[in-house]
Amino acid sequence: MKGRSFLKLLDFSSRELRYLLDLSRDLKRAKYAGTEQKLMEGKNIALLFQKDSTRTRCAFEVGAFDQGAHVTYLGPSGSQFGKKESVADTARVLGRMFDGIEFRGYKQSDVEELAKYSGVPVFNGLTDEWHPTQILADFLTIEEEKGYLKGIKFVFAGDARNNMGNSLMVGCAKMGMHFVAAAPKELWPDEKLVKECKKIAKETGGTIELSDDIKIATKNADVIYTDVWVSMGEPEDVWAKRIKQLLPFQVSKENLKNAKEDYLFMHCLPAFHDLKTEVGNDIYKKFGLTAMEVTDEVFESKHSVVFEEAENRLHTIKAVMVAMVGK
Ligand code: CP
Ligand code: NVA
Repeated sequence: MKGRSFLKLLDFSSRELRYLLDLSRDLKRAKYAGTEQKLMEGKNIALLFQKDSTRTRCAFEVGAFDQGAHVTYLGPSGSQFGKKESVADTARVLGRMFDGIEFRGYKQSDVEELAKYSGVPVFNGLTDEWHPTQILADFLTIEEEKGYLKGIKFVFAGDARNNMGNSLMVGCAKMGMHFVAAAPKELWPDEKLVKECKKIAKETGGTIELSDDIKIATKNADVIYTDVWVSMGEPEDVWAKRIKQLLPFQVSKENLKNAKEDYLFMHCLPAFHDLKTEVGNDIYKKFGLTAMEVTDEVFESKHSVVFEEAENRLHTIKAVMVAMVGK
């Protein structure tokens, strides 16, 4: 995998994803045991963010530092990127100084262009379309908790056409899992992508289902996953419509009655499960909701593995960098 970019899961075979998950596990164990080898000494990684981030930025930074590399953070303001300099020009500049580039932004075509023109591995840290590094962390967490991926019934409740819905569907198809999107029909993933995933799933022993009934969708589920109802970059005024569409799909105890007794609750985070955030408070004032995509009860329950999942962003992002940029 040396020299390759990590732009979307569709570019990788099941075996390659398996390798990245195994490498993540090995790197995690080595870090815990204090035996980590530095495979990125002397390397420099650029972190280009058009959107905010806590986990992804920290995972790239700590992952690089653990491996002996250096990082430079270029945030939504403060660089020439996008305003005075095109993607292609920025790519050619960064490619001359850095050994790898992480990009979080809006358009998938921008991250693809960075990879095309920079000449160094580019890592997609989230675009409107895909969030591939998140899926590695999610799957590592499921393996740690359940021992396996193949055959897991995985339900995504929420805006199933967003970056998380898309990436999870592809990931599940690649790893032979049973993916169910629980959402109103208008928020189902793109038909072409569903078709492609069904084709992949046929080869791996997985399945892809779309359902507009959360109680049926969650029947015998091993994993229930959700994400924010409105993603970064979407206009404020979509909240009202989205709340109406997705409130029936809220991850609540009531909606999970049919899930397996030992189901896992997962979320890429950040999550609106209480009123301790600015946005959460605004929504409460406007719409009277005390929680959105997940109730506080489920978020704080023994089923919830969201902070293990967040930690695993570090080990999996490190694995991607080591595999593609490491010695
Ligand atoms: N899950 C995730 O990507 O979190 P950040 O937005 O904090 O990076
Ligand atoms: N769908 C969310 C994911 C955040 C990690 C967003 O794009 O805002």
